[in-house]
Amino acid sequence: MAHRWTNTLTLNDATPRDVFLNRRQLIAGAAAGVGLVALAGQARAQDAALEPNSYEDITQYNNYYEFGTGKTDPAANAHTLTTSPWEVQIDGMVDKPGAYAMADIMDAMTIEERIYRFRCVEAWSMVIPWNGFELADLLDMAGVQSGAKYVAFETALRPDEMPGVRFPVLDWPYVEGLRLDEAMHPLTIMATGIYGKDIPNQNGAPMRLVVPWKYGFKSIKSIVRITLTDQEPPTSWNKANAREYGFYSNVNPEVSHPRWSQASERVVGGGLFAKRQPTLMFNGYEEEVASLYEGMDLKANF
Ligand code: MTE
Repeated sequence: MAHRWTNTLTLNDATPRDVFLNRRQLIAGAAAGVGLVALAGQARAQDAALEPNSYEDITQYNNYYEFGTGKTDPAANAHTLTTSPWEVQIDGMVDKPGAYAMADIMDAMTIEERIYRFRCVEAWSMVIPWNGFELADLLDMAGVQSGAKYVAFETALRPDEMPGVRFPVLDWPYVEGLRLDEAMHPLTIMATGIYGKDIPNQNGAPMRLVVPWKYGFKSIKSIVRITLTDQEPPTSWNKANAREYGFYSNVNPEVSHPRWSQASERVVGGGLFAKRQPTLMFNGYEEEVASLYEGMDLKANF
């Protein structure tokens, strides 16, 4: 696996010791931090001020309805998911459609650390040190054809391993989608790890999407299929309730959810008496992504 270490200024003295040691191993294997993408670099400089949530918070408070709708259900139940071997079907408008083995993807990709804010539509948030690769690199591997405009994603559907899919909470399998330019944006990653460890099943092993400027439900877990298309793909929460959940779902403190305000958020792990903090436009990534939506009415395209 290729490692590119472009984030040495972020996790600071507050870094847990095991992560620190892990990072040193990564640095040892790195090509001396070459290839810093200017834009992503900017985002990471900004993230230097972020203090990540604990590994406990990140892996014990989850949404993964295939394993139950309670926040602790995924951590309790997701061990039943077989994540190795794993294949991802990449199809639709690509030059090289087919079943890609996860092991081959990991060999081909450059793994980086990205410390991102994570904002759930339910108005809680965390800061998560992901490990992963840019989705653009994976799409480039498959060769995106010129007519493609959107990317559709699908989660595994395994009734024998997923106790939650007995209940029709959502129309299984969980599906999501992005516009192609959103998918190709350097902030958009496929996460394969957290705090330098393999991503736990409850967080979406072996590979889940992370789009830090959108509400968390866009970040689809345990992906088995990626389809390039020229049509806006259906998305699970929009199918469940189109009035409440749009295709874009960009974090926006000025556009309320029909049943609650999105102006502030509760930081998970902040304790019982912690103050809510203001939610930032595009979750704090406005400088990097606002241009994607120039001229669009963000209230209509929620
Ligand atoms: N992906 C699948 N397949 N199933 C889900 O229920 N929940 C989404 C998203 N991805 C979900 C999913 C929601 S609502 C959120 S907030 C995030 O995963 C939660 O990610 P986390 O548990 O790693 O914090």
